[in-house]
Order: sequence, then structure tokens, then C-alpha cells
Amino acid sequence: MEKLAIKGGFPVRTSKLYYGRQWINEDDIAAVEDVLRGDLITCGPKVDEFETALCDYTGAKHAVAVNSGTSALHCACIAAGIGEGDEVITTPITFAASANCALYCGAKPVFADIDPENYNIDPDSIRAHITDKTRAVVAVDYTGQAAKIDEIRKICDENGLVFIEDAAHSIGTSYNGRKVGSLADMTCFSFHPVKTITGGEGGAILTNDDELYKKLVLAHTHGITHDESMMEGAPHEGMWYYEMISLGYNYRMTDFQAALLISQLSRIDSFVARRKEIVKIYDEEFAKVPQLIVQKEIPESDTSRHLYVIRLNFDNISCTRREFFDAMSAENVQCQIHYVPVYWFPYYEHLGYKKGLCPKAEEVYKGIMSIPLYPKMTDRDVEDTVHAVKKVCSYYAK
Ligand SMILES: Cc1ncc(COP(=O)(O)O)c(C=O)c1O
Repeated sequence: MEKLAIKGGFPVRTSKLYYGRQWINEDDIAAVEDVLRGDLITCGPKVDEFETALCDYTGAKHAVAVNSGTSALHCACIAAGIGEGDEVITTPITFAASANCALYCGAKPVFADIDPENYNIDPDSIRAHITDKTRAVVAVDYTGQAAKIDEIRKICDENGLVFIEDAAHSIGTSYNGRKVGSLADMTCFSFHPVKTITGGEGGAILTNDDELYKKLVLAHTHGITHDESMMEGAPHEGMWYYEMISLGYNYRMTDFQAALLISQLSRIDSFVARRKEIVKIYDEEFAKVPQLIVQKEIPESDTSRHLYVIRLNFDNISCTRREFFDAMSAENVQCQIHYVPVYWFPYYEHLGYKKGLCPKAEEVYKGIMSIPLYPKMTDRDVEDTVHAVKKVCSYYAK
């Protein structure tokens, strides 16, 4: 048997592979440079152009570009009218921002459990957590796989809830033939460098609803409007005049970020295709490894995978997740864990959340690990990752 690098053997590769990374080419650099050499580096035409491109790509009616996925979620909660005393249902297996957006508005995040096979929020658990204070559901498309959109839509309609889709992972995914972006009341994207397209940082909120759109525009730029029809009666002083009519933030995207994103979006089909190719190889290689469980796909989702998550099958493996993670790292394949159940974090504990709230999520969390997945991976990188995973699995096989 091959000896693990961590036990004094040779690593599978000499240079580190990371779980995710951007792919910037010369066109991207030229697009950014062009803006930087021009007059407007923020609030210029590129942001509008990017918003239009996002609508064309997803089929959504409106898009508002912002400076992060987190601000996208915050704006969505503001537009949904979420406030003090309200409850917002979300999943614990997500980045903290999916729940924090409720806290920003003075509301309480309520955690529904996940489906232990596909790891997305379980619609039955959403139903079980609805109270007369529930105002919205923030459903996350974990790893890029769409949540059960139709069922969640139905639950929201039946209970008068706003459906916010946290699609930070899922640009490029379709659900029953429709692109993510036009499915929920509001859809939030993130353009952090590990995501499918990047602006360095960045985000966007998409909606088909004209009223929500107006609120999103206000929320992301100080609640300020130049639109006379929205003003409250102060005398119109001329072209320069504006009014602040609600409480908003400066969540604007710069023009050079938008230029980078327009250029990235023009290559999204090739990014998605390469991600799918790698996922297919991983699925085939790992399906027969008894030490692993692979994430189940739902047939409705044609998934552009942002993360590839392996789950250790503790019936067949003798190591801890920590030992597996450290062994992979010693093989120079740097994994990551997505995610610690949000309510386990000290901040949430101090708010009164207790372990045990979502037993299925907690059980899944114990065994999961994201392995490298990004379009710029070479075939050799993919082979090395498969080799390292199988090497560690066979070393620790029960
Ligand atoms: C599921 C999820 N939601 C929200 C966010 C927040 O996005 P950002 O990092 O762009 O603020 C992330 C980012 O990692 C995420 O993974």
C-alpha cells in the first residue's frame, strides 16, 4: 500500500492544489484596464451593461449589481420588508451570510434541517418551522445544485412568504429548464473569486418584480433617488436634486468590477462545461469507493457545480475527518469544509442557539469536505486529486 505523505511517504504532487480559484485571462485584464484608463471608474456605463447581460443570461427582468453576495442578501431582506420580530427560515449548511442577512434587519434566522442525501434545505422541515412571524425563506443552492424550487415556491405562496434564493453557488444552473436567476422572488449571486464568475468581489440581486426592483435599487445606494415621481414633495431644484427616501447603504459595484464580470460572463458556458466535465470524472471515480458517499443529484437541477463535496462513510473508514483533511493537505491537495452549521458559531451560541437543532445537518457536517473544483484545473490536476482521495481512503479503509 502507498504510504501517506503525512506518514513519511511521498506526496501525490509537489505543488499545492486549492479547492477553488478564479480564471482571469488577457481579455479580462484588458476590459478592466480600459475602464481604469477612462473617466468613470464607478457609477458608469459598465454596471448597467453588466446588469443587462445578467438579465439576458438568466431570463430575469431586473438585476441590481452590488459589491458582494452578502450585500445582495441584505438588500433582498430590506426589499422584502423584513424587520424586528420577523423570522426568516434558512439552512444551517451554508456560509453565515445566508442567515446573517436576517440579523442585519433585526429579524431572527430560523434553521430548517437538510435533506441528508442532496444536502439542500428540506421543504418538509421548512413547513415545520413556519410560525405567524415567518416572513421569508432564504433557500441556498448548496454546491450549485438548485434547492427544491417548486416545492419552496408552493410553500411560500401558501403562507405569504417572500422566497429569496441564495444562488451564491449556482449561476449557470437550470431548474426544470429555467435558469437560476428568474425562479424565486429575488435571487442573490456572489462573484467572489472561487465562484463560477468573479469580479474580485461582487454580487447581484435579480427579480421579475417591479416593486421589489425599486426597493433593491434604493437599498444599494443610500435610499437615494433622482426619480421625481418617487420624491416626497420637496421643491424640485433642478438636475442635481435628489432625495433620500429610505435607509440604504453604499453597496455599489465599481465599473472596473463590472467590466471584469462582463468579460467573465461571456465565457460562462465554457466554465460551466469544464466544471461539469470534472464532476463527471469525480462521480465515476468515487461512486465505487466504499469509504465515500457522493452528493445525490435531484433530476430537476441541471447543475453547474461550484463545489465538489465528498462525504466520509464512517462505516468503512477508520480515520476522523480531521485526519483525512490533514492527510489530503500533506498530499498537497488542499481541501476546505463547507460548512460548519451556522448556529454552531459562538456568535449564534451567544444569541441562544443550541447544538442539536438540525440533527441531519449536523450528521452530514461531520463527514463532508470540498475537494478541488475549478475550470482551470488541468486533467493532471484532476487525476492527482482522484489519486490523493483514493490513496487516503485505502490507507484508512476499515
Ligand atoms: C451560500 C453563500 N451565500 C452567501 C455568500 C456571500 O457572498 P460574498 O462572499 O460575495 O459576500 C457566500 C460566499 O461565500 C456563500 O457561499
